[in-house]
Amino acid sequence: MGRPSFPARLCVTICLAASAQANPVLGISTSALLDLDSRLLELPSTLASLFLPQSLQPPSTTTRRCKVYPGDAAWPSDEAWSKLNQLTDNRLLSKPQPQAAVCYNGPSFDAEKCANITATWSRSYDHMNDPIEAMSPVTQGMTCLPPNVFDSHNCTRGGFPLYVINATEPKHVQLGVNFARNNGIRLVVRNTGHDFLGKSSGKDALSIWTHYFKDMTYIEEYLDKELGYSGPAFKAGAGVQAFEAYKAASEKSRTIVGGEGETVGIFGGYIQGGGHSPLTSLYGTGADQVLSYDVVTAAGDFVVANSTSNADLFWALRGGGGSTFGVVTAVTVKAHPEMPTTASRFSFTSEKIGNETFWAAVRAYVDYFIPNADAGTYAYFVLIPNVLSGIFTFNMSPFFAPNKTLEETNALLEPWFTRLNNLGIEFDPNVTHFDTFYDAWRSSFPLEVVQKVNATTGSRMFPRENFQSEEKREELFQNLRKSSENNRVQVHFNIKAVDPDDADNAVNPAWRKNILFAQQAVRWPVNATAEEILKIREEFQATDMQRWRDISPGAGGYLAEADRLEPNFGQSFWGSKYPRLLELKAKWDPLDVFFATTSVGSERWKVESVDSLPNENGKLCRVDS
Ligand SMILES: Cc1cc2nc3c(=O)[nH]c(=O)nc-3n(C[C@H](O)[C@H](O)[C@H](O)COP(=O)(O)OP(=O)(O)OC[C@H]3O[C@@H](n4cnc5c(N)ncnc54)[C@H](O)[C@@H]3O)c2cc1C
Ligand SMILES: *[C@@H]1O[C@H](CO)[C@@H](O)[C@H](O)[C@H]1NC(C)=O
Ligand SMILES: *[C@@H]1O[C@H](CO)[C@@H](O)[C@H](O)[C@H]1NC(C)=O
Ligand SMILES: *[C@@H]1O[C@H](CO)[C@@H](O)[C@H](O)[C@H]1NC(C)=O
Ligand SMILES: *[C@@H]1O[C@H](CO)[C@@H](O)[C@H](O)[C@H]1NC(C)=O
Ligand SMILES: *[C@@H]1O[C@H](CO)[C@@H](O)[C@H](O)[C@H]1NC(C)=O
Ligand SMILES: *[C@@H]1O[C@H](CO)[C@@H](O)[C@H](O)[C@H]1NC(C)=O
Ligand SMILES: *[C@@H]1O[C@H](CO)[C@@H](O)[C@H](O)[C@H]1NC(C)=O
Ligand SMILES: *[C@@H]1O[C@H](CO)[C@@H](O)[C@H](O)[C@H]1NC(C)=O
Ligand SMILES: *[C@@H]1O[C@H](CO)[C@@H](O)[C@H](O)[C@H]1NC(C)=O
Repeated sequence: MGRPSFPARLCVTICLAASAQANPVLGISTSALLDLDSRLLELPSTLASLFLPQSLQPPSTTTRRCKVYPGDAAWPSDEAWSKLNQLTDNRLLSKPQPQAAVCYNGPSFDAEKCANITATWSRSYDHMNDPIEAMSPVTQGMTCLPPNVFDSHNCTRGGFPLYVINATEPKHVQLGVNFARNNGIRLVVRNTGHDFLGKSSGKDALSIWTHYFKDMTYIEEYLDKELGYSGPAFKAGAGVQAFEAYKAASEKSRTIVGGEGETVGIFGGYIQGGGHSPLTSLYGTGADQVLSYDVVTAAGDFVVANSTSNADLFWALRGGGGSTFGVVTAVTVKAHPEMPTTASRFSFTSEKIGNETFWAAVRAYVDYFIPNADAGTYAYFVLIPNVLSGIFTFNMSPFFAPNKTLEETNALLEPWFTRLNNLGIEFDPNVTHFDTFYDAWRSSFPLEVVQKVNATTGSRMFPRENFQSEEKREELFQNLRKSSENNRVQVHFNIKAVDPDDADNAVNPAWRKNILFAQQAVRWPVNATAEEILKIREEFQATDMQRWRDISPGAGGYLAEADRLEPNFGQSFWGSKYPRLLELKAKWDPLDVFFATTSVGSERWKVESVDSLPNENGKLCRVDS
């Protein structure tokens, strides 16, 4: 797939008309116009115009306050939707139902199906192939979940889109983008629905679903002089997931940089947002690996963004975040050699040893974060409080040492393990060597589950400075302990994320200094009212998250693992890259065809949720006007 060719005969009538409106700033030329479907030529011009590329000049006078919704005079006719379906080769899904609709009164009620869905609800396998479900149900407004998970009493459409294009070709994406833009309706881009902030949902939207762009091809020798890369690469469709990519890479004795979870869509939201990996301490972020993107722009063009073609878009798509600059259909990434890997999972609790000894063990570990990250390792560990029993748990899951022998890994862990032994802590560090990264990855990470209905997570990247002196390490440790004592579940990644090739891209500069990427969750009673939930969530930001920010001034959070209530998210998610990202948003999507909460430029809009909670169950409207 490259820039598609455009048969001149199809372009005679409509492309010329469209090119007359083309935006000279964007340099849209007749030859770059949409590969029009010949069936469009048979439509009356008013209908055909709904599918055409269009000028991106913002209208000077009338700007709607909200996107166009059902019930508005401007909402597309049934005939228009039906044409969209025809033109997309009958791949338009109309009003797809939430899975648990079978559990609620109404035409879909089916007790047996409901029992089956309830039994397997938390498995991400059942959600990833669904056109609308959100892996974080809090973000869709908590409607239509299995009643024993959360009883919404009614199955409404909540934050779910109304129409979904099950796209398999760039043309389907172009038609969807043009249709959404020309009609002023809300557009959503969804890949797997993993997003923790709900950035792949949107009430009554048209959603473009990229999950079935599944091609993956190996390129023996990819050469880009501009980027200084020559070596193997993979070109993957946007829908290829971690388990598919790692397998395909392994078959060529290669590895690629992807996330830990097996169903994450690593060539959709993950890679555009940065992306950390079990290989990040060796190779940098996911976005640092990108050599080229195929992308459909807000204008409806299908273009290549690489170091020599649309280089500014290429820069923005490496770290600037998904659903902001275009819809990616394929990504070419660097391939690295397969490598042996050593990994270990273990845990201990405060139950027998008491609080002070437990915390002394955690404190001892903090002393090794810098050397372990610098050695190229990845440690994923959680700290779990239990208020009822007063017991704390430390769970290493796993300590992951790519390219390290058993001896090298034991040598790295030994200083901390000696201190744990001296503290009398019982733990069972099963340190195992694997011949390949692929085997180690498969053995070390569990299948991810659908998120809880009463929790949300915030994050912070603690830089090297937080670990460079005894005083700083103590300060950081006290702040982690305090969060545990405040009943926060914590998830930590001890990694560094420096790109050995030092690519210039939009990745959050805070990643480059990171030593501990830390997350903590706020939880609330399942039966809490909307008012109570908002209060609890705001307090979490003002207290425990604020303490973490206060001890890491100028650092940031990670846009893909964050809270929708993160204050000043532009600085936090992009730091010094934010001003340029805003300029590129204005250039590539001046009409805000693309929106996702907390994305670049999203400050101009707000989802007016029906319960005033931070979720997707309301209309998307402008903030001022
Ligand atoms: C269990 C679990 C494990 C995770 N592990 C890791 C990890 O190890 N490392 C890490 O860095 N992150 C991890 N994440 C976070 C992950 O990076 C984000 O959830 C990411 O957004 C997933 O991308 P997706 O395409 O699968 O998800 P989606 O929810 O489908 O999309 C996420 C965002 O990207 C946009 N988007 C998706 N596809 C496209 C496209 N083709 N073109 C343009 N925009 C698009 C969407 O509009 C949305 O804004 C994990 C998440 C979960 C739930
Ligand atoms: C429910 O699951 C069982 C066992 O997998 C299966 O046999 C049955 O057909 C399912 N029922 C429905 C209605 O899907
Ligand atoms: C369920 O939703 C419908 C449609 O929004 C509404 O008319 C009805 O009153 C709701 N019923 C309950 C019990 O909330
Ligand atoms: C989406 O398209 C894929 C590929 O053609 C197909 O396998 C899948 O069943 C479709 N899903 C839905 C919900 O239509
Ligand atoms: C970038 O993409 C264009 C268009 O496909 C191509 O001609 C060019 O060779 C690519 N640049 C590099 C460095 O690969
Ligand atoms: C440990 O600390 C927790 C919370 O801070 C407390 O509930 C618990 O009672 C303490 N346990 C012991 C044995 O002191
Ligand atoms: C992996 O180890 C080998 C042998 O020690 C070394 O040559 C290679 O550079 C290492 N790779 C990385 C990415 O560190
Ligand atoms: C150690 O872990 C490996 C890999 O997970 C597993 O195969 C092995 O059985 C474990 N050994 C023990 C003693 O638990
Ligand atoms: C969150 O909900 C789960 C059930 O889904 C419940 O077990 C847990 O106690 C709830 N958490 C809080 C803080 O109430
Ligand atoms: C939630 O449940 C608890 C105990 O089950 C009860 O004390 C509390 O009042 C309930 N809150 C609301 C808002 O219903």
